[in-house]
Amino acid sequence: MVLSTGYNKTRTAVFISGTGSNLKSLIKFSKTNKSPITIEIVISNNSKAKGLDYTKKYNIKKKVLDFKNKNLTENNLLIILKTNNIEMICLAGFMKILSKNFIKKFKGKILNIHPSLLPKYKGLNTHKRALNNKEKYSGCTVHFVNDRLDSGKIIMQKKVKISKKETEASLAKKILFQEHKLYPKAIIKVFNL
Ligand code: GAR
Repeated sequence: MVLSTGYNKTRTAVFISGTGSNLKSLIKFSKTNKSPITIEIVISNNSKAKGLDYTKKYNIKKKVLDFKNKNLTENNLLIILKTNNIEMICLAGFMKILSKNFIKKFKGKILNIHPSLLPKYKGLNTHKRALNNKEKYSGCTVHFVNDRLDSGKIIMQKKVKISKKETEASLAKKILFQEHKLYPKAIIKVFNL
């Protein structure tokens, strides 16, 4: 990934909607020497997102935008990102779909983590669907975001075995644990592409 702002590390925004456990793992990673990114701002579409607590704890800027009027919100968001010299975006449990126009402005610079082995189980309720289909494995995927849902180029995946007694909750927990390790690895890979 090419840097253009002249900063040492790539200034990154993380978009969240909920718990923010991936945000936490990315913040921790960003503070290590091997990280090519710094996290400058957290964007949430949800003012009650638990993940926003990490912005306080780690002293990171935050902005809550309600996305009710997507066009208007995204235009606002583009200004915020520009003002903060943001070059890369990591979606981390962000449950809104960004417009084609927005994605075009950050072409090849938006990453997402998804709790399935894409191209299987795009969209919501991934664990439920994997269990219903009696899958033996599921996992998580970090991919580039393009204008089709969960369909951008895959960067890295981690497979997880589904046990006989697996429940949606136990599978979600197992996969989330792997997500926290996979996202930083995938970011490093992107900078070596
Ligand atoms: C994660 O499992 C992430 O993969 C998933 O939401 C969870 C967020 O957890 N993302 C999606 O389903 C996106 N379509 P977190 O808030 O604790 O990081």
